[in-house]
Amino acid sequence: MRAPGSNLAPAAVAVIALATSSDAEGTLRSAVEASSLASRMTIGAAVNEGYFDADDGSYSQTAASQYNLVTAENSCKFGATEKVQNQFSFDACDQVLGFAEENNMAFRGHNLCWGVYNPSWVDDGGFSSAELTRILQNHINNTLTHYKGKAVAWDVVNEAIEDSAPYGLKKNTWNNITASGDATDYIDVAFAAARAADPDTLLFYNDYNVASMDGWSAGKSDAMFSMVKGMRDRGVPIDGVGLQMHVGCGYDLVDGVRANMQRYSDIGVQTHVTELDLTCEQSASYDCTWSGEVEEQQGRLYADLLQACVDVEGCTNFETWGFTDAHTWIKGDSHPLPFYDDYSEKKAVAMMMDVLASAN
Ligand SMILES: *[C@@H]1O[C@H](CO)[C@@H](O)[C@H](O)[C@H]1NC(C)=O
Ligand SMILES: *[C@@H]1O[C@H](CO)[C@@H](O)[C@H](O)[C@H]1NC(C)=O
Repeated sequence: MRAPGSNLAPAAVAVIALATSSDAEGTLRSAVEASSLASRMTIGAAVNEGYFDADDGSYSQTAASQYNLVTAENSCKFGATEKVQNQFSFDACDQVLGFAEENNMAFRGHNLCWGVYNPSWVDDGGFSSAELTRILQNHINNTLTHYKGKAVAWDVVNEAIEDSAPYGLKKNTWNNITASGDATDYIDVAFAAARAADPDTLLFYNDYNVASMDGWSAGKSDAMFSMVKGMRDRGVPIDGVGLQMHVGCGYDLVDGVRANMQRYSDIGVQTHVTELDLTCEQSASYDCTWSGEVEEQQGRLYADLLQACVDVEGCTNFETWGFTDAHTWIKGDSHPLPFYDDYSEKKAVAMMMDVLASAN
């Protein structure tokens, strides 16, 4: 158990160890590592091990030169690592860890407990609350034992909160766990198991439509803050929250994001921007007409969001979900990421580097 306010140190220590890093100059990575932020924050991207050899090595080369933290897009999730009960397959997740280690990057684990993409043996097993509790504890223990000392942080629970009022917990298999002992719900069970297995990795709750405490996301954002504050107050070992941020280029709630980061920082809870991408869709098909103006708008928003993170001491990672438009989970032609299909930089990259440079 950590006292409130004492949890900003471990990430800083882990990041300092990375600071030898990249040979490349004039990259996002070199900009953050040369800045006064180097000991506080990482700049990250989700990667997929299936692309490490893609595009004549441009995928790997760009990821390693531009970022100092990676997350596996899919391969560390429950459905990938425990397809058969109690038979663990960490090979794909290990490839992402190996990439991080080879390139002197931090590794961020994602995720241990989520209502979707469970293996069917979990969802269709008809397990009792007590059995599900043991399954969840066993999964978390085995995964964190395997990655002990290797991950700077883990998303312990992902996307648990309902999207509309009164913002209770989503109905899913894990929510069939009825609370007992010190736990109020399955989320407490998951965090306790994670802390027991690895006392040093930072433990995060990650969700979407929560980044800004103002505007359309205020309700869910407030519900998440109350949940996390309640966890802290009753001694559940949560260190941070992930703000996903799959939003559009017209997103105008940056001040609400900064204020939200600040209220977490004020209670000793770190924030990571975890899954940022900015779609420039102008229609339901997600397509947009790309232009210099759209590029400018998107770049400004990437830079403004990074500035919000820089402004708040408790914001310790700024991470996009992918980094090149050539490989993104978003369908259509919406140009969501900071690098073009051919890995050349959009204006967003230089604009973000300016933010990092002026943090000195
Ligand atoms: C667990 O929850 C799911 C989703 O709410 C439900 O469909 C399922 O029947 C429940 N399983 C058991 C064993 O109660
Ligand atoms: C956690 O997993 C490890 C590795 O499989 C095992 O050695 C250990 O006994 C487990 N601990 C608990 C509390 O189940």
